[in-house]
Amino acid sequence: MAENFSDAERAAVYKAIRLRRDIRRQFESNPISHDVLVRILSAAHHAGSVGFMQPWDFVIIEDRATRQKVLDSFLRERDRAANFYDDARRDLFLSLKLEGILESALNLCVTCDRTRGGPHVLGRSTILETDLYSTCCAVQNLWLAGRAEGIGVGWVSILDPGELSKILGLPDHVVPVAYLCMGYVREFPDEPELQRAGWRQRIPLSELIHVDRWQNKPDERWDS
Ligand SMILES: Cc1cc2nc3c(=O)[nH]c(=O)nc-3n(C[C@H](O)[C@H](O)[C@H](O)COP(=O)(O)O)c2cc1C
Repeated sequence: MAENFSDAERAAVYKAIRLRRDIRRQFESNPISHDVLVRILSAAHHAGSVGFMQPWDFVIIEDRATRQKVLDSFLRERDRAANFYDDARRDLFLSLKLEGILESALNLCVTCDRTRGGPHVLGRSTILETDLYSTCCAVQNLWLAGRAEGIGVGWVSILDPGELSKILGLPDHVVPVAYLCMGYVREFPDEPELQRAGWRQRIPLSELIHVDRWQNKPDERWDS
């Protein structure tokens, strides 16, 4: 029989989704216990995956020297990215806090083994990237479980994947998908940092709905 959620359980799921935040600052120094880490990684490991491929691995990075190398790589890539913006936007971009590599209790790299399950994974013969999509589903589970545990998670993607693979000693068939900074935090902001900083606002849901065909807008029930 299908196990139903009570009202409180359903509310808790939506609460975790609504209050999840990308966290880059205000990390506490207390470590994440092994039991909590197991719960969070187990949540990640219960994500859906194409053909039940489970292409993810989790590289836990505690070593400071390794983290420093990742930070150096971040700084190089951030400075390179800054050149894409005009003067005012560049200043705002460079003022944003976009990583918590050294301040967080631990760093974690979620990887995708592109060969797991052999050459013919069920459901993956047409869209090869479904292994990467699956890995992102695992990251989202991890992010939500972390929020429920009071642990902030910050995704750092301003990194050169080749450099990161080298630093972590990943084999060629394993790619880094998400580099995450994790730790208990003093505060979970109630809106995205980028929104707070005036970088970008949340798009109204109604603008993103199409019925039957692209740009066929829905009725007024969707207006909020
Ligand atoms: C694939 C991905 C990559 C991201 N990379 C970065 C990053 O390099 N640095 C950063 O500060 N935030 C990064 N973020 C976090 C986003 O900026 C954040 O999710 C977004 O601003 C919305 O905020 P929220 O997660 O708090 O709701 C990334 C998020 C995703 C999903």
